[in-house]
Amino acid sequence: MKPNKFFCTIVLSALAVCLNTSFAYRQKWFENSPPKITITSPLNDDRFAWNATIRYNIKITDKEDGSSEYDEINAKEVLLEVCYLKDASKVKNYLASKANMVKEDKGLTLLRNSDCFTCHASKNKLIGPSFELIAKRYPINNNSLERLTKKVMNGSTGIWGQVAMPAHPAMKKDEVREMISWILTNNSNPNISFYPGIEGAFRTKEKTAKETGKEVLVLTASYTDHGEKTSTQNKKYGQHSILLKAAN
Ligand code: HEC
Repeated sequence: MKPNKFFCTIVLSALAVCLNTSFAYRQKWFENSPPKITITSPLNDDRFAWNATIRYNIKITDKEDGSSEYDEINAKEVLLEVCYLKDASKVKNYLASKANMVKEDKGLTLLRNSDCFTCHASKNKLIGPSFELIAKRYPINNNSLERLTKKVMNGSTGIWGQVAMPAHPAMKKDEVREMISWILTNNSNPNISFYPGIEGAFRTKEKTAKETGKEVLVLTASYTDHGEKTSTQNKKYGQHSILLKAAN
């Protein structure tokens, strides 16, 4: 090898190493950190009473978004899912199905960020019917999706009572369809309910002959961050689950 060719190879290799490290460093430096979600109350392994109100609090900290302790997190973007399981042996599978989630369902995100939860709750009637009753009334098919999408966009009255749902003319049709699809797909199970907000309360069921006292409640809080400053593409989803056992 001629000396200047040799020199060239050395310089080029050094340059390649430099570029590579600086790229990796940049990646790491700018990479969005995942949010840390903690259900601060109740506590894992606490007991729950039947037909009682359970208050909950969720804490979120995220390197880029900030901390819920300083009101830097939009409470509307936090969701609690509550699931009854027959006994503790069912917990592992349920948590495994949750662990695979890398992002929130698009329809749910749209719904949370809209006004829907001010009039609808997962299990109770507010101004509008519960999502559970809606999901039980309409099978998941193209007909229901089309019909209910139109209802949300144009408004509705007379189906569930005389109170009207206002029209949502500014919404995009395919986005409303995603919301309806989330409602119909995820709300017919009487054992799973959803609560938006960083704190709040829910009621446990009444104990009937069906309940054995071995039931457990799994509470899962979730939040999707806003990405890093230079890009909102790489958003990260996080969740935290705790287990409550029936008091008897
Ligand atoms: C101001 C209160 C209010 C808001 C906000 C609201 N709804 Fe409603 N919603 C109602 C009421 C009241 C009804 C029952 C209307 C009826 O009886 O026809 C209803 C009914 C529905 C139905 C069932 C319609 C049918 O034909 O059975 C769906 C689905 C629905 N809402 C979804 C949504 C979604 C999605 C949003 C958010 C984009 C939303 N609602 C926002 C009050 C509201």
